[in-house]
Amino acid sequence: MNIKFNKIEKSRVGDIDFDNIPFGKIFTDHMFVADYADGKWSNYEICPVHKLEIHPGNLAWHYGQAIFEGMKASVTKDRVPMLFRPEMHAKRINASARRMCMPEFPEKDFVEAIHTLVHLEQNWIPPHKGSALYIRPFMIAMDEAIGVRASDTYKFIVFTMPVGPYYSQPVKLFAQDTYVRAVVGGVGEAKTAGNYAASLYPATMARKEGYDQVMWLDGIHKKYIQEVGTMNIFFVINNEVITPNLDGAILAGITRDSVLHILRDRGYNVSERQITIDEVMEAGKNGSLTEVFGTGTAAVIAQVDRIKYKENEIFLSDDQWNISTMLKNFVNELRDGSLEDLYGWTVPAENVWNI
Ligand SMILES: Cc1ncc(COP(=O)(O)O)c(C=O)c1O
Repeated sequence: MNIKFNKIEKSRVGDIDFDNIPFGKIFTDHMFVADYADGKWSNYEICPVHKLEIHPGNLAWHYGQAIFEGMKASVTKDRVPMLFRPEMHAKRINASARRMCMPEFPEKDFVEAIHTLVHLEQNWIPPHKGSALYIRPFMIAMDEAIGVRASDTYKFIVFTMPVGPYYSQPVKLFAQDTYVRAVVGGVGEAKTAGNYAASLYPATMARKEGYDQVMWLDGIHKKYIQEVGTMNIFFVINNEVITPNLDGAILAGITRDSVLHILRDRGYNVSERQITIDEVMEAGKNGSLTEVFGTGTAAVIAQVDRIKYKENEIFLSDDQWNISTMLKNFVNELRDGSLEDLYGWTVPAENVWNI
């Protein structure tokens, strides 16, 4: 594959105040772009971040063929840029692509593009604890036509941005029993734009009442817990660590998978099973619920101190948050290289395309 490299004349990295980085607002210098047409991907290019020219009839805008990934790169103390399980993201974007009737992007090329781009942008990775380079690969339909059908042309793009810690405080959850995020057989398992659009109205309502995130219940019975905003969710009840099983409506989180491995290796009693909101509220009342935490690339591990459901509310006290604190430290230390990675999840970002 011939990869074009159009390098920026002067990096903007010197202008950035790494002590004050708002989440998701600062873009680095370069992005990776590829085009799909005539049944194949081509025009691989790393170029300066720039605006795209998009026709008003672009199919993605009307019928929602848009998928994405969210990844993070960190730096070790010696400033080696590190990726975390990039091949898992390559697989997941292609699972999303299949469900949304979009072409798969070759996994090898996905991983190599991320390696090369992050290697190129490594000076943008903030050295501060909990900070990282957020990586956003995405794919959109590009056909210019109206009519509900799959596009024949697509763009795959990766851009990156320096980010600070996502949550600095424990989060408050609002268990939503009117609106649902996904149903089994729908697109909940795909990381597709419409899932996030559908979450905005309930999330805004929850925020108005003082809660950070919606906790979604299943779309049929509205009683089984699914996930939270942009995180999977874990509960510790009587020393059993429980997370909802992947039923097809939940996003298969890569942090969730990592946390399950870590907990099982350390001998915790871990269950992937259905868990109802009633079980959680009851355990919160009788004191057997000791920890609740979300897992996700952006937040890593986000501890929860309050859950509201209908007229009831439960509170969690931080003196019992042993498992989530261990996990938070463990994952962060894996990512910054201060812990030996026996899993082989962290890999140095390399300039594999020699640009
Ligand atoms: C809906 C949803 N659930 C869970 C997650 C957590 O997934 P991961 O750990 O792969 O970031 C995310 C974030 O990608 C998400 O958007």
